[in-house]
Amino acid sequence: MSGQMFSPIKRLKWGMEPEITRQANPPFLFHPNIELKGRFMPEIKVDLYSDTSTKPSQGMREFMCAAEVGDEQKGEDPSVNMLQEMVATMLGKQAALLLPSGTMCNQIAFAVHCGAGDLILLDRTAHPLISEAGGAAVLARATMYPIDGEKGQFTVEQMAAVMESPTRYKPRFRLVSVEQTTNKPGGRIWPLKQVQDVCAFAREKGAITHMDGARLLNATVASGVEPKAYAEGFDSLWIDLSKGLGAPVGGVLAGTEEFILEAWQWKQRIGGAMRQAGIIAAAGIYALRHNVDRLAEDHDNAKYLAKQIAGAPGVAIDPEAVETNMVRFDIADLGISSAEFGQRILEEEGVRVSTPGPTLIRVIPYLGISREDVEFAGKAIRALAERIVSS
Ligand SMILES: Cc1ncc(COP(=O)(O)O)c(C=O)c1O
Repeated sequence: MSGQMFSPIKRLKWGMEPEITRQANPPFLFHPNIELKGRFMPEIKVDLYSDTSTKPSQGMREFMCAAEVGDEQKGEDPSVNMLQEMVATMLGKQAALLLPSGTMCNQIAFAVHCGAGDLILLDRTAHPLISEAGGAAVLARATMYPIDGEKGQFTVEQMAAVMESPTRYKPRFRLVSVEQTTNKPGGRIWPLKQVQDVCAFAREKGAITHMDGARLLNATVASGVEPKAYAEGFDSLWIDLSKGLGAPVGGVLAGTEEFILEAWQWKQRIGGAMRQAGIIAAAGIYALRHNVDRLAEDHDNAKYLAKQIAGAPGVAIDPEAVETNMVRFDIADLGISSAEFGQRILEEEGVRVSTPGPTLIRVIPYLGISREDVEFAGKAIRALAERIVSS
């Protein structure tokens, strides 16, 4: 069966199927940080680029195969309904909605909450600001107002400085958006008290609150604080299924019944409504049952890796800053850019990293990355740093 599915060339009625290439060259060429100008991608031995690289396990695939399905647009897909109920319960919200991606969860929430000209307050490193192709300006017709937080986390004082004394000149601060954990700053956990304070202040100022919970469950597993507790002050929030949880696709947005009804309209409007989506919902159900506690392994691997890298020449890293699954280090003292380092570590050692800043490198262990992989990567990073310093 699998041989048939993956047979390289197959005659179709209207032509030939292209050969399946696993070393996909073109998408790699379009990668913003590392360019291989026309050359083939080197063999990747350990891929620490992102926790979005997780692949569904055999158990998950089998569970997906066996999923009961129906037409989700009619509310008749039992697996979708079950997943939505699981997430709503876990987050202590009235209702939830399966969407194809986390980006769509953010964008639909913004579109429901905001009107034209409204302001969305968020950290300057927040995903919707830097990685969602300006969607808030298109769908919600809102403006994003970045705050210069620390570790991607802002304070009530910072909010007050921009939200106090509304005048008829100022746009309306409609929404405050928080990212748990903060991605660009390296998987940092918003402390519960700070989240509560931010939500309370937003409410006092008449603003709505939203959480981009792409990695909320990483925060939960690392801190022991229940998802419900983090979620309590938020009018809407979502979790991603396709990152550390290991599902191939999907995010689940939660809030009040009224909010989810509106979100359904947007889902339909922008073509996010699916049909027998139970196949992908099943992956989410499986992930919530089997892959939440194991996020702790990723956190342990991240801490281990940070300790391995610490002390490498020309590399600045603070292992104490590793709170969840992300490790960041600065290579400014090596005298090369992160793009060059990223390219060399890939070509010379087969380790793929990401480069979130001019001299910043980020590595993320995830489901499928073993302790041996992490050891290999740590040694490779040290070895390259030593070669650069001694050259
Ligand atoms: C913090 C954060 N928010 C939103 C997203 C978007 O999620 P998706 O890739 O499922 O659209 C990501 C993806 O990496 C993310 O890291």
